[in-house]
Amino acid sequence: MSEMDFYMETLENLPAVINSGESMKERVATLVYDFMQLQHLYDSAIEVVKTYLNIIDSEFSMKFQRNPIHNIDSRLKSPQSIIGKLQKKGLPVSIETAQKNLLDIAGIRVTCCYINDIYAVADMLCRRDDFTVIKQKDYIKNPKPSGYRSFHIIVSVPVYLSTRKTYAPVEIQIRTIAMDFWASLEHQLKYKTASAITPEISEELRNCADKIAETDIQMQDIFMKIHDID
Ligand code: GTP
Ligand code: MG
Repeated sequence: MSEMDFYMETLENLPAVINSGESMKERVATLVYDFMQLQHLYDSAIEVVKTYLNIIDSEFSMKFQRNPIHNIDSRLKSPQSIIGKLQKKGLPVSIETAQKNLLDIAGIRVTCCYINDIYAVADMLCRRDDFTVIKQKDYIKNPKPSGYRSFHIIVSVPVYLSTRKTYAPVEIQIRTIAMDFWASLEHQLKYKTASAITPEISEELRNCADKIAETDIQMQDIFMKIHDID
C-alpha cells in the first residue's frame, strides 16, 4: 500500500479527524502534517537521549579507558504501527491518544559490555534532573517467562523547539551483548515461525537464556578480578 493510500484509508476509518467543512485532500494534508510533527518531536527526543548516552560513554572512556556502551540503536514507530497499536488497545485513533497512551513511539536500544554497566547507565539516566522516569522494569532481576532479560526505562525528556519547550517519552532498553544476541534471535524465531514454537521449543529457548545469563555473570566476575574490584 502506498503512503497516500494508507492515509486515505486511515481517514476513512477515523471519525476523530473528520472535520465536516474539509475536503478529503485537506484532511489528508492535515493528518500527514500532524504525523510529521509527531515524528519530528519523537525523533528529536531520541537525539536528546542519544547525545547524553554518547557523552557519558566518552566520559568513561576518558576517565577509565573503557567504554561501558557497546552500541546504541534507535527506531521511531511508523504511523502504520502507531495506528495498529491504538486499534489493538481499543483506543480512538488520534495524535493526542497516541501521545498519551503509547510510550514506545521513540525507542532506543543500548547494548552494554557488562551487567554492571547496564545499572550504571540506567542510574545516570535517572539522575538527570531534567529527565522524568515514567516507568522502569528490571527484567534482569525478574526475567520474563520467555527468558527475556533487559532493563527497560521510559523517561520523559525535554525537547527545545524553535518557539517552545515540550516533553516526549523515550523507551530505553538496556542489555548486555549476550542478552541482545538472545533477544534478537528469539524475536526472529518467534516472529517468522510462530506456529512452530511448541512448549518444548519455548523451554529450550528459556534454557539458552539461562545459560547466557550465567555466562554474563561469569564475564562480569572475570572483569572484576582483572581490575581488582571486590
Ligand atoms: P509493549 O506494549 O509490547 O511495549 O509491552 P509492555 O509495555 O508491557 O512492555 P515490555 O516492558 O513488556 O516490553 C516491550 C518490549 O520489550 C517489546 O517491544 C520487545 O522489544 C521487548 N521484549 C519484551 N519481551 C520480550 C521477549 O520475550 N522476547 C524478546 N525478544 N523481546 C521482548
Ligand atoms: Mg513496545
